[in-house]
Amino acid sequence: MHLRTFLTSIVLTAAAITAAHERQHHDFNPISDQNKVLSSRTIASKRTFEATQAALEAAIPMINTTGIDLLREGKYAEAAAAFRALPALSRFIPTRDMGRLVDYYWNDTYPNVPRNKAVQWEIGNPYTASKLVGQAIETALYAPIRVILIQEWPSDTPMFFFDRPVSLFGHLKSNKSRAVVQGLDDQLNQLLLFAGGWPSRWPVPAMP
Ligand SMILES: *[C@@H]1O[C@H](CO)[C@@H](O)[C@H](O)[C@H]1NC(C)=O
Ligand SMILES: *[C@@H]1O[C@H](CO)[C@@H](O)[C@H](O)[C@H]1NC(C)=O
Ligand SMILES: *[C@@H]1O[C@H](CO)[C@@H](O)[C@H](O)[C@H]1NC(C)=O
Repeated sequence: MHLRTFLTSIVLTAAAITAAHERQHHDFNPISDQNKVLSSRTIASKRTFEATQAALEAAIPMINTTGIDLLREGKYAEAAAAFRALPALSRFIPTRDMGRLVDYYWNDTYPNVPRNKAVQWEIGNPYTASKLVGQAIETALYAPIRVILIQEWPSDTPMFFFDRPVSLFGHLKSNKSRAVVQGLDDQLNQLLLFAGGWPSRWPVPAMP
């Protein structure tokens, strides 16, 4: 092959590859859907809304970020020790008062009725989360778990609402991750039963 023919063929091949690549990009659909079966649970509280909120917030501290800070510094052994020292569950964000948003929506129509009450937390354990996210990184979408406490006027019963970890993480099939997910599901249930004034095994130990 003459040098010129050879070079021309390289250029043409490169052009063909680029065109194919662009065609692929053009045909590529960036959206893909997957369906999940969610199991949403409610737990009624025997206590008032305020006493239920107070009991939950007294039962689990705000997250201690020492372990996460140590990981960022590359200190894995120290981070592991800090993770193992954490209680079973912690709160990851300051309590969100959703009740104000509900008021805002309804106040024009019913300015003088008693208020609905609603607060939201994110509850979990970073050591547990690392086991789930390590198995399947997209589980970061659900860890920590959102929990809301709602009392809708005229009901006088506050209710916890959450999507059960066994359903949020139900697609993790290994025995090891199933045990972690079952453990998290049980811890969360025991916590919310306890905060609601029901018999419960809370406080439960953190998972090993
Ligand atoms: C946070 O965790 C670290 C490591 O276990 C511990 O030394 C520290 O006292 C904890 N901080 C608080 C406020 O509990
Ligand atoms: C509800 O509406 C009343 C009357 O317009 C107003 O005075 C009050 O501030 C409103 N409250 C809230 C929570 O928006
Ligand atoms: C996983 O759990 C199932 C059901 O408990 C058991 O039959 C199986 O042997 C376990 N597999 C492993 C690898 O431990």
